Formats: sequence, C-alpha cells, structure tokens
Amino acid sequence: MTDSKIYHFTELDSTNEYAKKILNNTGEWTVVVADKQKCGKGRFGKSWYSPEGGLWFSIILRPRDATSKDILALPLVAGVAVCDVLKALGLNVKIKWPNDILVGSKKIAGILTEYENDAVILGVGINLNISEFPKDIEATSTLLETGKVFDKNEVLKLVLDKIDEKYNRLQNGELKNLLNEWRSYSITLGEFVEVKTPNSILQGKAIDIDEDGALLVELPSGNIERVLAGECSLMQTEFSLTQ
Ligand code: BTN
Repeated sequence: MTDSKIYHFTELDSTNEYAKKILNNTGEWTVVVADKQKCGKGRFGKSWYSPEGGLWFSIILRPRDATSKDILALPLVAGVAVCDVLKALGLNVKIKWPNDILVGSKKIAGILTEYENDAVILGVGINLNISEFPKDIEATSTLLETGKVFDKNEVLKLVLDKIDEKYNRLQNGELKNLLNEWRSYSITLGEFVEVKTPNSILQGKAIDIDEDGALLVELPSGNIERVLAGECSLMQTEFSLTQ
C-alpha cells in the first residue's frame, strides 16, 4: 500500500461510482472517502443509508492476476478484515454470507465489490457515529453498540491496514487460512437458509463455503447446490423449510 492516495469529499453520490470515474487515471490503493453519500449503493441494486457520521469509502485494487481464482474470495476476505477491526474496537461482530457484518441481527457494515477490466473496486460502509436509523432499516452502529464516538480517520487507517495485510496474504497463496478466518465469524454455516440468486430462490442447509467463496447449500433432496452470489437469510428452524 506504499503509494496509497486518499481523496476525501464532504459529499458524493457514491464513492464506488466516483472510483469508477477516476479508475483509468489512478493507481492501485487509491482510496475515495465521502462524509456522506447521496445515492450510496448496496448489493443487488439496493440503496445504502449513508448519512454523515458513517465511514464510507472505496478502494481501487489491481490484483496481480485478476483472473486468479483466489481473487473471487476477496469480498469475503475484506469482510474478515472489517470484522477484525470492529472486534478490536469491542464489538461482537459476525458475518452472514457472503459479507454482511452484523451485531445480533442488525447490520453494522457492508461491502460492495465491483469489477472493471483488471481492477476491483472494494466499497466499504461502516455505520460508525450514527445515532439513529430510519425505522425500515434493521441496522446498528458502533456508537449505538458501545456509546463511544470513534475517530473516522483512525478507523479508516485500521481498516486499510487490515485489508492490505489480508490482500497480500490472499495473493501469496494463503486462501485456505483466510477462509478459515471467515468461517470463525460465520453465522451462516450449519443454519437453514434461503438464498435469492438472480434466477432462483433456494432453501436448504448451509454446509460450507468453497475456495471461490461460494456457499454450499444442501437441498432437502440431498443434492448440494453451489451459490456464487446471492442474498441469504437465515431461517428459524429446519421445520420452517417444509412449511
Ligand atoms: C451491502 O449491501 O451490504 C453493501 C453496502 C456497501 C456500502 C458502501 S459505502 C461505500 C461504498 N460506496 C457505495 O455506494 N457503496 C459502498
């Protein structure tokens, strides 16, 4: 991360969109940060509530080998990095596949990874110093959980360093260990889940992730389905599968 450049804005539509605009004229580890986003983007075309107080940023990465299978797991590995930092700040964080970061059942951070040619835009949103959320958003913040106000720049530095460390390990063949770190935060594995993919909805037991970060779901038929991308919700019991 030696030549990292940080662009800071008081307001942007979306740091991921801005990162895409400057992509061709900037190097790896360019970071775009905004105090607030007018049209923050979540996964699956959802919007991401991004008021002042939160930490909203995107990192431009250029993996040595963008076609390498290891890079497929980058969104999960980035989730582990964010969890490590939030845990060190005193939060009891867990990951719902692929990279929803939760405290209890409430979301505290999310990651939106977008790919453009040989670059990866890693968008990270952390609900930091946010004192309230609209009623329809099931979310929490570090402020609500700990009562403490955190310095945004300090947390940004901690997260960048952690992502840097894991990204280097990923590119140096440590995928297996990194996936085990993901497993240690998972609330998905061993649970009955419903996963919405762009083409289907499936229900079954989440048994593991594979080396691409795909979720392996055992269907009631006993077949195992491999899901590379989707929205996962946890179901209460096996019984509800048959309802
Ligand atoms: C999710 O749906 O969980 C992903 C949320 C990602 C939000 C971050 S905030 C910074 C970056 N810019 C965006 O527009 N989205 C990501």
